[in-house]
Amino acid sequence: MRILIVGGGGREHAIAWKCAQSPIQPTLFVAPGNAGTAALGENVPIAATDIDALVAWVQGNAIDLTVVAQDDPLALGAVDALQACGQTAFGPTRAAAKLEWSKVWAKEFMRRHGLPTADFAVFEERDAAASYLDHAPLPIVLKPDGLTAGKGVFVCASRDEALQALDAIMADRAYGAAGDRIVIEECLRGPEISVFAFADGTHITPLATACDYKRAYDGDVGPNTGGMGGYSPAPFVDPETLDFIHHEIMERTIALMAQEGHPYVGVLYGQLMLTNDGPRIVEFNVRLGDPEAQLILPRLQADLVAVFRAAMAGRLPDVDVTWDPAATCGVVLASGGYPGSYATGHPLAGLDALDDDALLFHAGTEQDGNEVVTAGGRVLIAVGRGANVPEARRRAYSNIARITFPNAYFRHDIAQREV
Ligand code: AMP
Ligand code: GLY
Repeated sequence: MRILIVGGGGREHAIAWKCAQSPIQPTLFVAPGNAGTAALGENVPIAATDIDALVAWVQGNAIDLTVVAQDDPLALGAVDALQACGQTAFGPTRAAAKLEWSKVWAKEFMRRHGLPTADFAVFEERDAAASYLDHAPLPIVLKPDGLTAGKGVFVCASRDEALQALDAIMADRAYGAAGDRIVIEECLRGPEISVFAFADGTHITPLATACDYKRAYDGDVGPNTGGMGGYSPAPFVDPETLDFIHHEIMERTIALMAQEGHPYVGVLYGQLMLTNDGPRIVEFNVRLGDPEAQLILPRLQADLVAVFRAAMAGRLPDVDVTWDPAATCGVVLASGGYPGSYATGHPLAGLDALDDDALLFHAGTEQDGNEVVTAGGRVLIAVGRGANVPEARRRAYSNIARITFPNAYFRHDIAQREV
């Protein structure tokens, strides 16, 4: 079986790593991949967003299954384009992926169906939004409608700060067309968790929970990033709450998507806040999280390829999925300057110095002759495993500290206190 994974980050390395363990023994391709995926299969030099080139390559290379793992190709309709040519693709269609690519649509979907989420208002004009901010409760949250690689959310403590955020999005157009519309929403409080489910259009199979650290620096300060590390499971979520989340949020969302004419096949990702009034949806994403995939897939006791195939056949319940009770913790090594601008091309040292039981997933790396060099903001993640989160944490930190490159940084407080 020949499988193409679309994407080039740590998540795609983790998916490739898990697929490589399948008893089917697939031949793996990753587009565009990184230095880590090159060791598991063949990297294909096509950007994840170049849908025409991807479709042509899949058709010309006898690919049996394409896994679209990244948000932007899903938003561009990669799955629709592949299916239109008779190819097999795992992931939501463009219409189903709207749950992530339009925050306005997603919030209105949640409101229409009484799914628990923060109160909100939507604006298309800067001045109307500014007048609304005159009377809005503080703190207040502003988000552009479209995709921003996790970097577009402003949690504002003061009206001035909120106006600055509004101008960045709508006047300066810092996020381009993603900021044509803006969501202004109530600020939620409470621990945050990432919840995932495989979905086959009708059924769901929940995945293990995880916690992600989005802020760049220690103490949860600094700009939002794609995620600087995390751990799995989130041991503080009680079984009743988890049951509510699986049935009333995840399963219900899949049923509602089908009911609205957008059957959902793929991974549904609920970013939730556990408030005093119960779980609230911060947002939906339509794929595995990064770095959550790197924390969760090592705990998956099932053949991931079989899960993908069952989901596409509408037969998820046929595949038994269990979870390794051992915990994972991962720490991201990032380029100095990320999530702002940063240099690339720095050689990485220490990649061979890791413990045998540690996992290393590459993200922004590439092979340059005999060297592996940096090629992105988040460069790699070291994942430790242990009987519990503190033990996994100790292993993750002992390993990440052995890998170096100029201006590298990582957070020192991942999983220090389980949030
Ligand atoms: P997002 O890009 O929507 O995942 O948001 C990034 C981060 O901003 C989330 O992980 C939250 O920590 C924070 N955030 C987003 N929306 C809210 C909200 N309504 N209230 C409080 N924090 C939020
Ligand atoms: N970890 C956040 C994301 O994948 O969107």
